[in-house]
Amino acid sequence: MDQSTIIVFALGAVLIVAASSVLLLGRNAARTSNEENEKDKAQEGTATKASRQVVEGSAESAQVVTLEKVDEDMIGISRRKFMNRSLYAIIGVGFALPFASSLLAFLIPSGKGGFGGLVNVTTSLDDIISQIESTKQPYYIPEARAYIVQFPKDNGAAVEAANATHDYTKNPKIIEGMVDTGIVALYQKCPHLGCRVPWCDTSQWFECPCHGSKFNRVGEKTGGPAPRGMDRFPFDVAGGKLVINTNLSSVVAGPPIGTDTTRQGAEGPLCV
Ligand code: FES
Repeated sequence: MDQSTIIVFALGAVLIVAASSVLLLGRNAARTSNEENEKDKAQEGTATKASRQVVEGSAESAQVVTLEKVDEDMIGISRRKFMNRSLYAIIGVGFALPFASSLLAFLIPSGKGGFGGLVNVTTSLDDIISQIESTKQPYYIPEARAYIVQFPKDNGAAVEAANATHDYTKNPKIIEGMVDTGIVALYQKCPHLGCRVPWCDTSQWFECPCHGSKFNRVGEKTGGPAPRGMDRFPFDVAGGKLVINTNLSSVVAGPPIGTDTTRQGAEGPLCV
C-alpha cells in the first residue's frame, strides 16, 4: 500500500470520526432542545397559572408585577438556548476546519519539491544515464516515486514504432523525452491495483509481485492482469538536470496492451 493510499484511508477515518461526532452533538442538541421546550412549557404553565390567580384577585398592580417576572424567565431561557447553540456551532467548526484544511492540502499540489509537484533532480542527467548503463538498472528517484529508464533513441525501428504509437505522440513531452532525450520517467505504481513495481535484474523487466504483471524496460506491458503499460511523468531538462512533473493531474496513462516499441524480450529468468 503506497503513501497516497494510506493518506486517503486516514482522511476517510477522520471524516467518519468527524461525522459521528457531529451526529452525536446534533442528537444531544436535539435532546437538550426538547428538554428545554418541555421546561419552557412547564414554566409558561406555571406563569399562566400565577397570572390567572393574580387577575382573579383583581389587583391591577399585582398583575403588572407578575407579568414582568414571566418576561425575565423567558429572556433567561432564550439566552441559555443561544449559548448552547453557539457552543455546538463552535465545536462543529472546530471539527470541520482541520479536516477541510487537511483535505485541501492533500488535493492541491504544493507545486514545489516532493511528490505531487515539480521534483528537481539534483543528479545531472549525464550522471543518471551513465549509472543506468553501468548498473543495468533503472535510476530510482524516491521523492518522485519514479524510475528513470533509457529509451533506445539511436534504434531507428524503436523510434519509428514510438512515433507510430498514438498514445505517445499525443503527449508531446513523453514522445520528445523518448526520441530526443532518450529517457522515460515511469511512475512506480502498478496500473493494475497500485503495488510498487520493482525491477528484476535477471529478466531486465519490471515485475509486479502482487499479481504478476510484467513490463519491459520502458514500461510497456508484456504480461499479467495490468490493463496497460506503466504510467509516466512528463519532465523537462533544465541546466542538464531533470525537473519531473509529478502532479497527479499530469500523469500520462501507460501505453495500451500490445505496444512494443523496443522488442525487448526477457533477458534471463523472471523474478515473479
Ligand atoms: S497490482 Fe501489480 S499486478 Fe496487480
